[in-house]
Amino acid sequence: MQTVYQYYSQGQWKSSESGETIAIVSPYLKTSIGSVQALTQDEVNQCIQSAKAAQPDWSLMSIYDRAHYLHAWADELLKMKEELATIMMKEVGKAYQDAIKEVERTADLIHYTVEEAIHLSGESLNGEHFPGGSRSKLAVIERVPLGVVLAISPFNYPVNLAAAKLAPALITGNTVIFKPATQGSISGTKMIEALAKTNLPAGVLNLVTGKGSVIGDYLIEHDDIALVTFTGGTSTGERIAQKAKMIPLVMELGGKDPAIICEDANLELAAKQIVSGAYSYSGQRCTAIKRVLVHRSVADELVSLIQSEVEKLSVGSPEDNATIVPLIDEQSADFVQGLIDDALEKGATLVLGNKREENLIYPTLLDHVTKEMRIAWEEPFGPVLPIIRVDSQEEAIEIANASEYGLQASVFTQNLDKALTIARKLETGSIQINGRTERGPDHLPFIGIKKSGLGIQGVRRSIESMTREKVIILNIN
Ligand code: G3H
Repeated sequence: MQTVYQYYSQGQWKSSESGETIAIVSPYLKTSIGSVQALTQDEVNQCIQSAKAAQPDWSLMSIYDRAHYLHAWADELLKMKEELATIMMKEVGKAYQDAIKEVERTADLIHYTVEEAIHLSGESLNGEHFPGGSRSKLAVIERVPLGVVLAISPFNYPVNLAAAKLAPALITGNTVIFKPATQGSISGTKMIEALAKTNLPAGVLNLVTGKGSVIGDYLIEHDDIALVTFTGGTSTGERIAQKAKMIPLVMELGGKDPAIICEDANLELAAKQIVSGAYSYSGQRCTAIKRVLVHRSVADELVSLIQSEVEKLSVGSPEDNATIVPLIDEQSADFVQGLIDDALEKGATLVLGNKREENLIYPTLLDHVTKEMRIAWEEPFGPVLPIIRVDSQEEAIEIANASEYGLQASVFTQNLDKALTIARKLETGSIQINGRTERGPDHLPFIGIKKSGLGIQGVRRSIESMTREKVIILNIN
């Protein structure tokens, strides 16, 4: 008998009156591992009203009292680490050890977020520092919560990227509507089970699940939502931006992160970093390296080193901790296959891969990729890496910047001046010098520009995003 998970609202676990549930099919077991509730708009509205009603008291509570719940939540997550990792593995096909690390990373993230928020201080400004101003005017600037935050998390980090939204929202006095990606909603539900065990006041956190077509726009357009924080695909992000009212949006979307390899790079290091950056979790990371722009003079050697590294990758089941695991669904695998087919039809060289078993795509390496091929520009979210050979650093920068995305980039060179020159010209939120593209550690600012996102995340910046400044001016007579 499979578990039918409930949604969480007003401090209670509930079944939807719609009578409908959504079966969650494991990407590698290919069977349903449970189902979640398909909420109606009316139920979503009740959740939002519950969050709205709970918000004033929650924000008036001392930050140390709020911290108590969040620290306890992190501890609960660690207590159920194996259970949560197993569910995550089955639900999104993440290697078990990676799922364990994700839970540990999440507990650290929650504790760190709480401490960061506790140690944030306000500011005061004295009027006399502006021409004609007087010291009898003193402005006290505090950060206050926004209200009800809508947090929408993606399938690939169903625990960590959920907590990266929930923890900063909650510690700063917001209440939350949490809508996990449907594939990932069982992991999200288990996380909230851990939070519920802390006896969090009713209404502070509401978990909603359901069909995007029924509740998606309704959530985004709701008058009582004060901020949307979303991680997921660019097309959904664009839809959110079009539908949302005049509220702040924080979004982490797609990417096409380039690795630029200069003539003087340490190629062994670059190859290892590129392969880890491109293929871990089958490339299902927004920050995966998704194209290599290598100077022609070192391209043959680099390709050969990358090939050797890719040959070492394990392919198979997340239960065996394989690096290359089945993609989240068949449709995603079809999309990746389409990119590979297009590149090969247009003359790319197949170095390795192009083998498929249902939604399991073997690690694929394509050389001599040109700008005419879709794989040069489109985000596969799968284990395929295109090599584009360039004649100069300028050409690499030009191709890197021609992308519609702007999340991260890597630059490999042993010349720091050159690294800095290239980094300053790249149109991405962050640039890694001699390392793979990645979000962590989680306290670093994490920024996507162009179609890769809006706003800034990373612990401190997320706290700032989920609060606003409020100015109280004392006129001292
Ligand atoms: O998929 C998007 C994530 O933010 C990537 O995080 O760099 O830690 O894998 P990561």
